[in-house]
Amino acid sequence: MEKPAHHLLVCASFRVQGAPQGVCHRKDATSLLQYVQEGLNDRGLSDVMISTTGCMKVCDRGPAMIVYPEGHWYGNLNEDAIDQILDALAEGRVAEKFLLT
Ligand code: FES
Repeated sequence: MEKPAHHLLVCASFRVQGAPQGVCHRKDATSLLQYVQEGLNDRGLSDVMISTTGCMKVCDRGPAMIVYPEGHWYGNLNEDAIDQILDALAEGRVAEKFLLT
């Protein structure tokens, strides 16, 4: 398997023991995963991998996602934010509006 060009890590609030309980889970981050995948498909971004993670410690600004290898941390995700972030990814830009600094 070739390494993907980009890897999206989406917080799903997983805990080591027990069910997801974090803020991103309460904000329904896991339902955004399908939207992210469809957005990648729509843009022909076939070399992007999505993984879910545990808490990224930015709960007050979740749902959160990190884009590697760029290392861009994005927050306050919703469908509009994801559209703008994926547009930026496809065009080799950064979606500054949603960057966590
Ligand atoms: S639960 Fe997502 S950043 Fe903490």
